[in-house]
Amino acid sequence: MRLFCFVILASTITLGSAAQTSPSAEPPQISVMPLPAKFHLGSGQLVINQSFSIANKGVEDSRIDRAIARFMHHLAMNTGIPLGLVPPTSNSNPTLTVNAGRASKRYPELGEDESYTLDVSASGARLTAPDTLGILHGLQSFLQLVKAVPQGFAAPAVRIEDTPRFPWRGLMIDVSRHFIPMDALYRTVDAMAVVKLNVLHLHLSDDQGFRMQSKEFPKLTELGSDGNYYTQDEMKALIEYAADRGIRIVPEFDMPGHATSWFVGYPELSSGPGPYSVERRFGIFNPAMDPTREQTYKFLDKFIGEMSDLFPDQYFHIGGDEVNGKQWEANPKIQAFMRAHNMKNTQQLQQYFTERVQKIVARHHKFMIGWDEILSPGMPTDIVIQSWRGPDSLAAAAKQGYRGLLSSGYYLDHMETAAEHYGVDPLSGDAAKLTPEEKSRILGGEACAWAEFLTPQNVDSRLWPRAAAVAERLWSPKDTQDVGSMYRRLEEVSWRLELLGVRHRSELSAMLGRMAGTDDVPALRVLAGAVRPVGLDGRQDLDQKAGIEETALTPMNRLVDAVPPESQSARGFTDLVNALIAGKFADRKAETSVRDQLAIWRDNHARLESQLQQSAVLKELEPVSENLASLGAAGLQALGYIDRGEKPAPEWKAQTLALIEKTEDPDPRAEVYIAVAPAIEDLVNAASSESGGNN
Ligand code: ACM
Repeated sequence: MRLFCFVILASTITLGSAAQTSPSAEPPQISVMPLPAKFHLGSGQLVINQSFSIANKGVEDSRIDRAIARFMHHLAMNTGIPLGLVPPTSNSNPTLTVNAGRASKRYPELGEDESYTLDVSASGARLTAPDTLGILHGLQSFLQLVKAVPQGFAAPAVRIEDTPRFPWRGLMIDVSRHFIPMDALYRTVDAMAVVKLNVLHLHLSDDQGFRMQSKEFPKLTELGSDGNYYTQDEMKALIEYAADRGIRIVPEFDMPGHATSWFVGYPELSSGPGPYSVERRFGIFNPAMDPTREQTYKFLDKFIGEMSDLFPDQYFHIGGDEVNGKQWEANPKIQAFMRAHNMKNTQQLQQYFTERVQKIVARHHKFMIGWDEILSPGMPTDIVIQSWRGPDSLAAAAKQGYRGLLSSGYYLDHMETAAEHYGVDPLSGDAAKLTPEEKSRILGGEACAWAEFLTPQNVDSRLWPRAAAVAERLWSPKDTQDVGSMYRRLEEVSWRLELLGVRHRSELSAMLGRMAGTDDVPALRVLAGAVRPVGLDGRQDLDQKAGIEETALTPMNRLVDAVPPESQSARGFTDLVNALIAGKFADRKAETSVRDQLAIWRDNHARLESQLQQSAVLKELEPVSENLASLGAAGLQALGYIDRGEKPAPEWKAQTLALIEKTEDPDPRAEVYIAVAPAIEDLVNAASSESGGNN
């Protein structure tokens, strides 16, 4: 009966989705990320050599000229071949022609045409697009096609017809809790352009710091930033740089809560007596703007007017999240206002505030955007809701006529894997049941990097390469779901980004050097490759259990702050173990690799121990390092049983699994997980199972 059902199901699938190709055929590979909407690989390849040239045959647009100059520079960097030095002969055709029908707006806007078509053959390439933006994207795709081949460097012959699934593909960075300097933002914009993300959302104010210079209200940064802020000139330059790359910059000034830093210089804006100082702790705090005073709206009108002139984007983010209402409840004047206006709770007071602010934002010719909490029945439907509490609120908003963005499931500070973020779709859950018109209100999403544990030194590895997986989810067709293919392309994007100057890989080396006081850290590197950091919530829980509070004053110099959220080597090991088990340990070469790796881990603690004693920040790693050694030994024992065709005693299995289970919790002091523990548990289970070994 079960078999019968399976056959029916399998044949339905074959007819439904894969009728033209044989089910076992490997889908064609292409290295572009996000995966283009449509592509067709041809035969042959375009070899890149010193005579590579490019010509603009379409609309005149200085932005295209600058993009071409950057493209040549990046192509030279990606190949190491000096380009642009050999003049083309008069009768030779350009290698690549670009042709845009018209110039896009100087500052990119939501919903502009970003599509392009790229044809590459052995004799040359042609990139066409309706608008400038498509040319920018197509040039990035071309760069990603080029890689090392036996003939040198080449792009495969291919035809790509590409267009994004969603028009709003963003990355939010909290630059308040820890200040992130401009140079990191420039690197971020460079990386975003590579993966076709088109909105950089800057969370510019929170309790811990006000990061944007205001000439109208200079005390915002003079007293609220510790001197760590962006000048208007710096921001203008970043906006131009981003616009050149097709990227919008959306500013967020969080109000009425998460606003302590405003009140340091302007305590009269708040609902409590003050005085205030910049908040060093993290969490939800009581201070909130006073929604009952007309002076508050006069201030915000002037401030939003000033910022609306500075930021050309049509959208202005007012935050609106996590207001606890405590200062409002404690203020008799505010309580009297609420009674006089028949307000039953502080949510209604926030609603009143948000409606007033929305009118100010609209008067300055911007659309208001905010977190879930800003949505209330009185709002005009031109506002945008950014959903952080769950995808269903987005669907509910879309039903009521509101546009929205998904961020729930895309929080990079939770330290989840690229695959986990990749599995989150803005049009899933309740949103999958919306009408086409309602669905069109879901504009896309934003990956978010909150900054409790984000610093200038680790920002690159907290963003990249995982943000590229979100970029693909937001650009590529919904049925682009092959996680293995995603990771293959993610790893390529990863080294390309590093070549471009993003430091997500190299910053780890620098931080390990700092921890050890030396560059000679092979054993520390082994440990770093086997672990992953605990995410925001878990870390705060562990801190609380230990009676510790990490704040903006806490040094961020530990292994948990340095190791990437997802260890490439741990994933590689896990994949290898899975394949080994699935193949019943028949692949001797794979088994040797696993065995060698396990031996390295088993022996690593002995190599590392004395170094751990030399450094206060390394000392906490001792139990983690010991556990890794035990795991290595356990894995080797499991392989031994399998090789001998011997079933281990139940006591061995029970003891070993108990040990592994202990290591699967994050170490409470070091706040890292041993990322490879589950794979070793699988090996132990395989050794103990009836069909586990190769016997
Ligand atoms: C948020 O995570 N409080 C928007």
